[in-house]
Amino acid sequence: MSKGVVFSGVQPTGELTIGNYIGAIKHWVDLQDDYDCNFSIVDLHAITVPQIPANLRKNTLEVLALYLAAGLDPEKSTIFIQSHVTEHLELSWILSSMSYMGQLSRMTQYKDKASKSDENLNAALFTYPVLMASDILLYGTNFVPVGDDQKQHLELARDLAERFNNRYSQTFVVPEPLIQEEGARIMSLQDPTVKMSKSDDNVNSYILLLDDRATIIRKIKRAVTDSIGVVSYNDEQAGLKNLINIYSVLTNKTVDEIVKKYEGKGYGDFKGDLAEIVADSLEPIRNKYEELIKDKDYLEKVYSEGAEKAKRKTKKMLSKVQRKVGFIQKKY
Ligand code: TRP
Repeated sequence: MSKGVVFSGVQPTGELTIGNYIGAIKHWVDLQDDYDCNFSIVDLHAITVPQIPANLRKNTLEVLALYLAAGLDPEKSTIFIQSHVTEHLELSWILSSMSYMGQLSRMTQYKDKASKSDENLNAALFTYPVLMASDILLYGTNFVPVGDDQKQHLELARDLAERFNNRYSQTFVVPEPLIQEEGARIMSLQDPTVKMSKSDDNVNSYILLLDDRATIIRKIKRAVTDSIGVVSYNDEQAGLKNLINIYSVLTNKTVDEIVKKYEGKGYGDFKGDLAEIVADSLEPIRNKYEELIKDKDYLEKVYSEGAEKAKRKTKKMLSKVQRKVGFIQKKY
């Protein structure tokens, strides 16, 4: 029986947080044994907002090293840099010819970014979800692990797959989201109503995967809680709820077990333990990362082999699509 196909990606736009790790990469590591997984570092998506070239280069390798440090395995999965597999762009052009301006202009991420940056409203920001659909559809993807914020984009990918299949003939798999459990959505440590993000102005609102132990401990201690003073899990104590989620994911303990463990204890005890847990969980990743980021030859080998593998996988789908839309098949 053939395994299902998984596709996901992260933009190399800055350092990753434990939100990226718990909400995405940690989950992907577990998927590797059961699915045919494809994980990309989506540099093409990153340039939809202005990037400093040297930083983009640095961040791309950093994300790759972090993928590997966190446990993504190039023997099991196809790990590659998006711009190396130009098939994504070729499909994107074709799909953009079937994408409606109206639907793209209703994308909330686009509207958000457009309202914030009117001096750089570039066309790529607008067609971003079409490229994302190409990423997904090119691999015959069955499942896309994504956060809530990307669900609308996935919906577009599904629409485009169906539209193409209806207009021509059965070609694309219609992908399904792989929605993570609630606990996998990590919120800001300073405002539990918003998602943890490295672009937050307040550095205490997030923990970077590469933060050192002292920084992690300080940030956890400063995390916003409430004045109720009882460790319990509910929406009124949203800050605490978020911390319990982090605790639970990193220890594989259930929420009930954790709440029970801190019965009669204060937030200080809880936070002290959590700080150690987070620091201990990230330490091996950080150590492995430090080793990998120095080994440019190895990183180059991984992304080169990954791109070759990805190209091999996408070739057939792309030529099928090109044939169906009426392009003359290349003979060279
Ligand atoms: N847009 C996604 C994000 O910012 C990243 C991404 C690009 C992606 N292509 C993808 C995610 C394909 C899943 C599948 O999070």
